[in-house]
Amino acid sequence: MEKVGLNRAFWQGKRVFLTGHTGFKGAWLSLWLKRLGADVTGFALEPPTSPSLFALAKVSAGLNSVIGDIRDLNHVKSAMFEAQPEVVIHMAAQSLVLQSYNDPLETYMTNVMGTAHVFEAARACDPYSSSKACSELVTTTYRNCFIHKQHGALLASARAGNVIGGGDWADNRLVPDLLRSIIAGESVVIRSPKAIRPWQHVLEPLSGYLKLVEHLGSDEGEKYASGWNFGPYDNDAKPVEWIISSLCEKWGQGASWQLDDPNKVQHHEANYLKLDCSKASVELGWTPSLGLDVALDWIVDWYRCFVDNEDIQAETLKQIAAYEERMQ
Ligand SMILES: NC(=O)c1ccc[n+]([C@@H]2O[C@H](COP(=O)([O-])OP(=O)(O)OC[C@H]3O[C@@H](n4cnc5c(N)ncnc54)[C@H](O)[C@@H]3O)[C@@H](O)[C@H]2O)c1
Repeated sequence: MEKVGLNRAFWQGKRVFLTGHTGFKGAWLSLWLKRLGADVTGFALEPPTSPSLFALAKVSAGLNSVIGDIRDLNHVKSAMFEAQPEVVIHMAAQSLVLQSYNDPLETYMTNVMGTAHVFEAARACDPYSSSKACSELVTTTYRNCFIHKQHGALLASARAGNVIGGGDWADNRLVPDLLRSIIAGESVVIRSPKAIRPWQHVLEPLSGYLKLVEHLGSDEGEKYASGWNFGPYDNDAKPVEWIISSLCEKWGQGASWQLDDPNKVQHHEANYLKLDCSKASVELGWTPSLGLDVALDWIVDWYRCFVDNEDIQAETLKQIAAYEERMQ
């Protein structure tokens, strides 16, 4: 299928319920959806970091931002009922690997029961289509047993690679750790320099989610109600060390890194992660539009704006517009 841009007519006035809108990916997606003309209700806890893209880019202006906990079924239900969404995009999650070791129960409650709550609420108000990036087992069960059979709504799930981009301040993630150190004039400490990850700019998977929803909303939507991967090209799976050196080089001004103490106890993290995205390419016409080198340039540009106290919303929207250009 030929690669095409987003369908603005599809999004214009579309009522979208987005969970996790105060997080890193959610804040980018909120701005993008607003730019496409969607009528967005966000549901999430307060921003998980400070600073946050949500606050800096004034994401709450022009969308209905509900601060709530997806573990609270009644709150999710009432917010969704009020919003009457045609599309639900579920991205709220405990998204940090190390935190899942520190508090496994909270992680399961949020990622599994929270996901079930979102589907339960969606089932009650019968949305048009939904998408979710994790908890695929719950997703499959709801898809097969409830959502489609009883309500005619369509449900898809999507996985992404290791997402990087301006506006991420989460703990123990590579790019935020590096940028925090650079800004503080310190040398960043790296855990697993040889670990290979499928790095991608945040706008790559978000463009995949938007395309997926557009396909779910088409006459043949049922064909697309399944699991999807939106990862980078294979040659953008690079070791941590490569990312760090490239970013330090692009930033300049003596940015540097050092290895963590090898004797320190580390939690297990997979050494090599990779996603097969051929289905998204063949069936949705989705392929990455940026590539890693440009992604790193955009990250440096974004954090420079932050350091220089420039208009963060303007820079974020500029990158979204530039990304859309590349999708055409
Ligand atoms: N960042 C990545 O590299 C990456 C890669 C692949 C998939 N993902 C997935 O994409 C989604 C978003 O990731 P992110 O990087 O934006 O994460 P993030 O940690 O920046 O944001 C998480 C969002 O979920 C909300 N949240 C957490 N617990 C909640 C709860 N109990 N109730 C309501 N809201 C809650 C937070 O308030 C925030 O809005 C997650 O599902 C994550 O697993 C992220």
